[in-house]
Amino acid sequence: MCPCGERLETRNSKLETDEALVCCLFSSFVIFPSTLKSMSDKANAPTAPSAAGLRGVAAATSSMSDVIGDKGQLIYQGYDIHDLAAHSTFEEVIFLLWNKRLPKQNELDELKQALAASYAIPDEIIDLMRRIPRDADPIDVLRTTVSALEFYNPGSRDISRAASVQTAIKLTAQFPTLVATAERIRRGLEPVQPNSQLNIASNFLYMLNGSAPSAADARMFDIALILHADHELNASTFAARVVAGTLADMYGAVTAAIAALSGPLHGGANTAVMKTLLEIGEVGNVESFIKQALGDKRKIMGFGHAVYRTEDPRATHLRRFSQQLGERTGESKWYDISRKVEEVMMREKGLYPNVDFFSASTYYMMGIPLDLYTPIFAISRISGWTGHVLEQYADNKLIRPRAEYVGARDSRYIPIGER
Ligand code: COA
Repeated sequence: MCPCGERLETRNSKLETDEALVCCLFSSFVIFPSTLKSMSDKANAPTAPSAAGLRGVAAATSSMSDVIGDKGQLIYQGYDIHDLAAHSTFEEVIFLLWNKRLPKQNELDELKQALAASYAIPDEIIDLMRRIPRDADPIDVLRTTVSALEFYNPGSRDISRAASVQTAIKLTAQFPTLVATAERIRRGLEPVQPNSQLNIASNFLYMLNGSAPSAADARMFDIALILHADHELNASTFAARVVAGTLADMYGAVTAAIAALSGPLHGGANTAVMKTLLEIGEVGNVESFIKQALGDKRKIMGFGHAVYRTEDPRATHLRRFSQQLGERTGESKWYDISRKVEEVMMREKGLYPNVDFFSASTYYMMGIPLDLYTPIFAISRISGWTGHVLEQYADNKLIRPRAEYVGARDSRYIPIGER
């Protein structure tokens, strides 16, 4: 093993240990030892053709979830997402993702107890939140506080299955508390202590608002958590697996995942969707707004997907929630605008809405601030990230692909005064 962490057998087999060391330490230098020139030989070049954004490349084996893009199907450990959304709970799905099977009643009870016992976050983390600028983006606050949580878990470096499951329980239980507490502090309110009698969905809404949610809101939110729990090798999950593949701890892997999720092409899209809907303002403005945006080559957030070529099955449920909330609150405007956008996007671009499109209006009508939509995505996705990290640890191989080099070769150093 080279000190850079690279297995020698992945490099040119002709290289001796010392030469490989030179390679690792000095590969950014332009002048190579003669033997190292063989690195550019065809024999050592990446074998697979490059696929922009790794589209269509299977970069890991996993039983966590499968996205069948042409059929618009999503399964978690063998179970169709529609079946789980209709009959399951988020806690049951967490067990399923981590254990590859549905729990028996006593196993589910045990998991729920363990989660509820871990809802609280250390006072030091709350102190840290009070020092963070009020205008910080909540997803960045989540990223920083999750990273800091590692300091308060003495078992964090133990990546055995038993210890990692305990860390996964802590993280999954604490995410809602982190998001709700940071939001209360941002609003100048005192944090609400978690209620161990409530499930994850209800407890989050309770801590956020200071009052228990209605049964309808609680169940809707619970299903939204089920729908966002895992999605195969999306960007944030891949980031988590890359970090876990170095045998770094779960906090590091999850911190990287949150950073990846925050981007507008990934989890950041749901907030961007609501901004677009607000900008459109009225159903009558949709047609001209979308045509103008497409004419300007702007992307409409919440549409298109790297894998689905038909309806994203998660959008089917979120569309229904948006409609139901519109009817319940008497303000169907956001649902109506969304439907019109959907119609124009299908006609103009042939693109379907993805998970982020109808979650935006759903959360908006639940009174949730726009910039909490992406942290809420993380409250659910932590179950998938941790499940993938458990999977990675169980059968680890350092993730270290090659790049198809397209830069210059044989350049010679020119002193700065002569350039
Ligand atoms: N609005 C307008 N055009 C879109 C679009 C969107 N939301 N999504 C894709 N397209 C168009 C692209 O402009 C491109 O058109 P072109 O071939 O004429 O240049 C074509 O569709 C392919 O887009 P591309 O971004 O290369 O496809 P992809 O498979 O890499 O895209 C996404 C996947 C998700 C990154 C992309 O659809 C997107 O950016 N969507 C908006 C962000 C979003 O909702 N993200 C959440 C995903 S769950």
